Order: sequence, then C-alpha cells, then structure tokens
Amino acid sequence: MSAEIKTIGVLTSGGDAPGMNAAIRAVVRKAISNGVAVKGIKRGYQGLLSEEIIDLDKKSVSDTIQKGGTILGTARCMEFVTEEGQLKGAEICRKHGIDGIVVIGGDGSYRGALALSRNGINTVGIPGTIDLDIACTDYTIGFDTAINTAMQAIDKVRDTSSSHERCSIIEVMGRNAGYIALWCGVANGAEDILIPEKYDYDEQTIINNIIRNRKRGKKHHIIINAEGIGHSTSMARRIEAATGIETRATILGYMQRGGSPTCKDRFYASIMGAYAADILCEGKSNRVVGFKNGAFTDFDIEEALVMTKDIPEYEFQVSRQLSQ
Ligand code: ADP
Ligand code: F6P
Repeated sequence: MSAEIKTIGVLTSGGDAPGMNAAIRAVVRKAISNGVAVKGIKRGYQGLLSEEIIDLDKKSVSDTIQKGGTILGTARCMEFVTEEGQLKGAEICRKHGIDGIVVIGGDGSYRGALALSRNGINTVGIPGTIDLDIACTDYTIGFDTAINTAMQAIDKVRDTSSSHERCSIIEVMGRNAGYIALWCGVANGAEDILIPEKYDYDEQTIINNIIRNRKRGKKHHIIINAEGIGHSTSMARRIEAATGIETRATILGYMQRGGSPTCKDRFYASIMGAYAADILCEGKSNRVVGFKNGAFTDFDIEEALVMTKDIPEYEFQVSRQLSQ
C-alpha cells in the first residue's frame, strides 16, 4: 500500500448502467479494507465542480448491489471538458484531501480522468456502459442486463407481430455501436439485424427479404435496428408502403438502461471495483480496468483511448446465416 494514499473518491459519469452500484460498493469496501477512506462524488464531474462530496463507509453501500441506476447520480458536464474546469476539479480534490478517484463510465469519462491525472490527481477508470463499446475490455458493466431486458421486450413484441402478421422494427440502444443489436438479433432470432458498422442502407434488400419470407409462410418479420442507424419510424412507413404488410416501429429506449443488474453485471462490477480500488490504493494512476483474454487487467488510459474494437466478422456472418 502506498503511504501517500489516504483518501480516494469515487464517481459515476456519462450514461448510467446497471451494475454501477455494485462497482461503487466494491470500491468502497475494498478501499476501506485496505485502510483507505472513501468519499463519494455525486453527479459525476458536475458534482465534483460543485463540491457535492460525501463520506462513504461500508454501511453506506449496504442494500445497493441489486439496484439499477447509480446511487451517486451521474451527469454530463461540459465545464469539465475545459482546462479551467479540469484545474478547478483537481484543486477541489486537494481541498477535500482526495488523493485519487475511481471514475466509472465510458470513454468520455476516461478523458476527464486523464485530465485529472495530468493535474496531479491519481485516477483509475472502470468500464461502465451498456454499449460494450470500450476497446480495451471484452466486457463493460451494464451490457448483460441491457441485452437481457431488450431480449425479453423483443420476445413480447414478436408475439404481437406474429398474431397480427405484421413486420416489426425494434430499435435498440448502443449509440454508434451495434453490439446490443447484434446480440439481441441473434438471441431473438430476428429476420434482419441492422448495425451501423455493417449496414449498407439498402432497404430494397430488406423489402425483398420480407416478401420472400411472407411467401414462405412466415407470419412475423422482426428487424432489429441499432440506434446508430435510427429512423425506425420512417423506415417502417417506407417498408409498409413497399410491401403492403403492416409495419410498426418500437423504440425500446431507456428501459434498456434501467433495472436490477444481472448476476454477471454484479460479478464483473464487484471484481472490477475491487481491482480499481486496489491499484489506486497502491498509488497507480491514469489506468483503466478491463477484462481481456479471460482475465481482469489494467491499461494506461491514453493507450486504451486509441485502441479500436470491431464487430467480430464471424459473429456477424453467422447472425446473417441464422436469420435466413
Ligand atoms: P461516457 O463516459 O459514457 O463516454 P460522455 O462521453 O458523455 O459519456 O462523457 C461523460 C463526461 O466526461 C462528460 O460529460 C464530460 O464531463 C467528461 N468528458 C468527456 N470528454 C471529455 C474530455 N475530452 N475532457 C474532459 N472531460 C471529458
Ligand atoms: O452510452 C449509453 C447510452 O444509453 C447509449 O446507448 C445512448 O446513445 C446514450 O447513452 C443516450 O444517452 P442520453 O440519452 O443519456 O444522453
């Protein structure tokens, strides 16, 4: 344990994700077990700049592991993107005796963490986003809950789609990343899966698919559309006009981001939270925790931010073959 690290802070930033509370709980309990005090910073970098800082003990995170959202709150803070905001944030940490901060969020949040570490405050990031779009890690906290929530919702829409012999376009989240769409598309047996990384914007192919499937006697046609492509409602209108088959759009939206985390999210969040607390207590800085090649590990934030991640080609090809 580093002699200098006496107090660490923890904050959640960017979009909330199920499992963030399990990560906060693990950071708090592991750091305290290491003899380091913990402060919670509310509402992400916004709360840091407005000094919404509270003491956390082991009991303050009781009864939180099963809860969705984040007990600390989260925000998107434009002031923190400025140099003045970052200097102010580091000064506030020093004023409150905070030697290091665990930042739970996505890439944007790590850029904030990088800025803080350049201004003398140790930082460690934890991947918390439903989108799975962080390149340095094979897993991000919240993904499993989000895909299971979406999968269950899509099953329900499919019932109605089959009963009314309709076509359904179901839009799932994921900002510009197609992981939620790919996983749900495969798991729900969708007829078409549209993901921004691969979609060629050729609606005629989809229309031909629908007409061919209808001739074969298929009663429903499920299209999973990723948020990065969007425009599900206008797409539905065009498809209905071209096929003569009633077509409805359903945008799942924030229901995918809420709810009690799955076992997998709670487990990954707990281990990643503990890992982040350990390395921060050891005096490491400018790191981000990841799960890579079957093991928990950590990377330099700058290196992590330039890594890239693609939709695995084999998984994409299989998703197409199974939907025919
Ligand atoms: P995520 O962390 O999920 O990617 P955002 O991209 O919205 O979410 O980022 C969350 C917050 O991180 C932003 O509101 C901002 O306060 C901070 N942030 C984002 N980009 C930067 C940056 N380049 N420099 C400093 N802080 C940043
Ligand atoms: O990053 C998580 C996410 O839910 C994305 O899938 C989505 O694009 C984005 O956040 C929406 O963010 P908000 O509505 O909070 O601005």
